Amino acid sequence: MLETVTDLQALRTRIAGWKREGLRIGFVPTMGNLHAGHHSLVQLARAHADRVVASVFVNPTQFGPNEDFARYPRTPDADARGLDTAGCDLLWLPSVQTMYPYGAEAAVRMRVPGITDVLDGAHRPGHFDGVVTVVSRLFNQVQPDVAAFGRKDYQQLAVIRYFVRDLAFPVELLAGETRREDDGLAMSSRNQYLSRAERIIAPEIHRTLQAMRTAYLDGMSLAAVQADAAQRLERAGFAVDYAEVRDAGLGAPDPASRGPFVALVAARLGRTRLIDNLEFTAAG
Ligand code: PAF
Repeated sequence: MLETVTDLQALRTRIAGWKREGLRIGFVPTMGNLHAGHHSLVQLARAHADRVVASVFVNPTQFGPNEDFARYPRTPDADARGLDTAGCDLLWLPSVQTMYPYGAEAAVRMRVPGITDVLDGAHRPGHFDGVVTVVSRLFNQVQPDVAAFGRKDYQQLAVIRYFVRDLAFPVELLAGETRREDDGLAMSSRNQYLSRAERIIAPEIHRTLQAMRTAYLDGMSLAAVQADAAQRLERAGFAVDYAEVRDAGLGAPDPASRGPFVALVAARLGRTRLIDNLEFTAAG
């Protein structure tokens, strides 16, 4: 039965009790509006831990001034039901005041250099600073042994791996596979912003990623692969932030390498910004 906790002291007491019993704590941080992708992260954490905590916190510090913080979907009752069914033990629901006692503007900020300068980091200045700022706090609050993040947010996962290693957080990271709708669209809380017409177009991102993989492995130049992908998406009606092939560490791919590679796209349909990626190697 899922227990919901909104008070930091109550959370610490519950976690300390579990730790005294020698139980391993799994953690799934989320911003709520949970779908099957989040539920599969709970199941992944469950497979590596004795107790699973999920947090729901729409984090103001990772949204830019013109982004969708205010309209981000908040569905607390459905989230709690889904977490319960997925096998979560505890839902951590901190307020902004609990997360940022001095206020979000006056919060101590973290920053990961290098990999945050490209792709989403370049298009959403300050976004990853906000992500690491909140994830480090969540790790301090929940004290997990393992934490699960989705591969759909490929760059976010890379940024979190970097700061966990750099700051020696004693947390093992698990990466959950991207869950897709039947037509290939990656599951995302933002999909529900799409109009019916946009929803029909949206799977073009996944098809474009597959085309990028084929073209790159067929020997097309990186520049041509990326330009073709951007054109294809624009023809379908997207405004493209980026369509790029990178190596697994998000550096420029070595033309002599057989991978692993990752194709990444961020593109907007109307007011909705979608991201997706496809990992691949020359072996298939
Ligand atoms: O991936 C998300 O939902 C968020 O970026 C995270 C990791 C919960 C931090 O707010």
